[in-house]
This record gives sequence, C-alpha cells and structure tokens, in this order.
Amino acid sequence: MNFSRVLVTGGAGFIGSNFIYYTLKHFTDVFILNLDLLTYAGSLENLKDIPAEARYQFVQADICDQQTVTELIRAYNIDAVVHFAAESHVDRSILGPAAFMNTNILGTFSLLEAARAVWLAEKKLKPEQVRFHHISTDEVFGSLEPGAPAFSETTPYSPNSPYAASKASSDHLVRAYHHTYNLPVTLTNCSNNYGPYQFPEKLIPLMVLNALEGKALPIYGDGMQVRDWLYVEDHCEAIWKVLQEGKVGESYNVGGNNQPPNIEIVDAICALMDEFLPDSEFRPHQKLKKFVTDRPGHDRRYAMNTSKIERELGWKPRHDVEKGLRKTVQWYLENKAWINSIRAQKQYEEWMVKNYTKRGEK
Ligand code: NAD
Ligand code: TYD
Repeated sequence: MNFSRVLVTGGAGFIGSNFIYYTLKHFTDVFILNLDLLTYAGSLENLKDIPAEARYQFVQADICDQQTVTELIRAYNIDAVVHFAAESHVDRSILGPAAFMNTNILGTFSLLEAARAVWLAEKKLKPEQVRFHHISTDEVFGSLEPGAPAFSETTPYSPNSPYAASKASSDHLVRAYHHTYNLPVTLTNCSNNYGPYQFPEKLIPLMVLNALEGKALPIYGDGMQVRDWLYVEDHCEAIWKVLQEGKVGESYNVGGNNQPPNIEIVDAICALMDEFLPDSEFRPHQKLKKFVTDRPGHDRRYAMNTSKIERELGWKPRHDVEKGLRKTVQWYLENKAWINSIRAQKQYEEWMVKNYTKRGEK
C-alpha cells in the first residue's frame, strides 16, 4: 500500500515529531497534515527543522473536536491517519486521570467517527484505499513476573494504571470499528521509546537533564523494574512497515529487545555524561543517584515478543540500548536551545515540584 496524504495526530510530541522527520526524509511523495493541541507535551520547537515545508502543514486542534477533524480529513483528502495523540505519562495519570480518559478514549472515538464518516459513508472508499493506524503500548498487557514469557499479540489485556487502561480502551474501540464497520485499521503496541525530542518527564531525558544541572537522579523503589527500550527511529520504521505491508485488522508488537533494569539505564547515562563532559563539576554523575518512594502500582516488568513483525514484515530494531543511548545523550547535549525552551515552560517546573518535592527518600 502507498499512502500519500497522511494525517498525523500528536505530531508535536516526542514520537510524532520523530515520525514526521522520518517520513519526510524517507518517503518523498508523502504529504503530512500534523494535528496537535499543543498540550504541555507538544511543542513546535520539536518541528523547527522540517526539511520539506511544501509537504507539511500544521493545525492546532483537539482530536476530541470531531467536526474539525472530519472537515480536515475531507478537505485534505487524507488517505491514512497515524494516531499518536494521547496523554502519555503514567505518573500524571496517577495524579490526574481525567484528561487521559478524555483524550485517549473519547479522542480516539472522535477520530474513528470522523474517518468512518468521510471514508466509508461519504466517499465510499474501498478498504484498500485508506488506513487508520493506531499507536498503542505494551502497558495494556499489564506486568510480567520474572521469567514469564514476553507479551505477544495474543496476551490478554490486563492494564494496571489509568494511562494503560485508557490506552486499552482505545485499542478496543479501534478493533471494534474494524469488526463492525469494516474500517481498515492496523495497530502497533510498542514498548518504551527513547531518543531525541522526548519530554524530560520520562526516565531517560529526565536523568540527562538533571545530571546536567547536578540535580538528584530520582530512582523509584529499588530501580529493578524492567522496560523493553526501543529507539524511536526504529519504531518509526516499524510503523511504516505496518502501514505498507501489515494486514488490516491486525496488531503488531514492536520492541527493542533491550531489557535492562532501570538502574542499569541510569548507570549507563551517568557513564556517558562522565565521558562527554570530562570537565563537569558533577563528575562522577553516579553520586547524584537517589532512591525515592516508588510509584503506586508500579509495573515490575515489560518485555515484547516481536516475532510476528519480524517474521511477517521483516522488521527488526537496528539499535541496541548501548548504541541508542549514546546517540540520545549526545543529542540532548548538542541541543541546548531545545532543552532551554522546555525548561522555560511553567508546566514543566510545576510538574517537577508536584511529582518530586514531596516524594520521600527510600
Ligand atoms: P507525547 O506525550 O510526547 O506527545 C503527545 C502529543 O499529543 C503532544 O504533542 C500533545 O500536544 C498531543 N495531544 C495531547 N492531547 C491532544 C488532543 N486532545 N488533541 C490533539 N493533540 C493532543 O507522547 P509520545 O511519547 O510521543 O507518545 C505518542 C503515542 O505513543 C501515544 O499514543 C502513547 O500512548 C504511545 N506510546 C508511547 C510510548 C513512549 O515510550 N513514549 C510507548 C508506547 C506507546
Ligand atoms: P517512564 O519513562 O515514566 O515510562 P513508563 O512508566 O511508561 O514505563 O518510566 C520508565 C521507568 O523508569 C519506570 O519503571 C519508572 C521509572 N522512573 C524512575 O525510576 N524515576 C523517574 O523519575 C521516572 C520518571 C521514571
């Protein structure tokens, strides 16, 4: 399948902006309409280096605004929706779940309705002419016991946080729209992404930014929780594989096959900071580590079985965590203007106070 007029939702966020860069570089006949509300997590700073402005358009809008979304899909002759827009941070979902229900569930519902109205009811397009691709997470599967097999596409859903539950709901809606209305959908459930432009409330950029300033590196609980780290560019490649060759109605797991405990990620970041900043007064950065009160309901372990996408579509991650982390830390150190623009945000400062100042030491 060759889609050429793509509506990206949430393209001013971390993965969405990387996806836009990736697409404009690798698919020179694709036009992108980027729809983003610009919440605290979205920033036009992430899109400052767009290389092909004639093939790119930004609209500030809410995915919950069904009328606007419908008009945009119609007016821009959109043939594929790649849906990233979401409230995406587990810790925020614990302190304030309402926004997650609204954006992740009702927002996805609104987009599905808009796509159905324009593609199926109005234009009567064939399923092979259009695609609704939904970006989801491994967190819908819950938490793995040590030694338990990795999540596969058939693992039952068992979400534990309000964030994961809202994403699970949206996945169910997407599947139901395929089953009931024959809307051509695909889904990817991916593991923890990392790389350029990630908002520094997530583990890796948070540690880099705090280390730069000599602030404490807050490790939840015992730091032995396991995530399956996926370099964001590998994820973008996987999404395009699924868009082009994936089977309609199916979901594909995407993961990095890198599963070190959090503490090893923090140690690796400290070592890279020592190496890249030999004159830093905060060396060795290891001494900034601080064990703090754990996240409530903290999932212990995620791991993705990616054999389906490897076998059926020939996709494999190109980055191991060593290579990906090196590129990532380097990117943050070389992009001070980006860091300063995020730090200047009032909401960022407020979040740091809200999540960390009252958090006790372990
Ligand atoms: P992000 O928080 O960095 O970006 C989300 C973007 O969505 C922001 O630009 C924000 O402004 C926009 N947005 C939020 N609410 C909106 C609304 N109502 N209307 C329009 N735009 C809105 O998120 P991310 O890390 O880039 O994640 C993208 C997607 O990938 C999400 O669906 C997330 O659940 C999923 N995902 C992320 C990860 C990860 O590690 N980051 C892992 C698995 C799945
Ligand atoms: P995070 O980046 O928030 O992603 P997710 O919760 O979606 O996996 O967190 C990744 C892991 O790092 C998770 O186990 C929680 C842990 N963590 C810390 O130990 N300290 C922190 O300050 C943050 C933000 C996360």
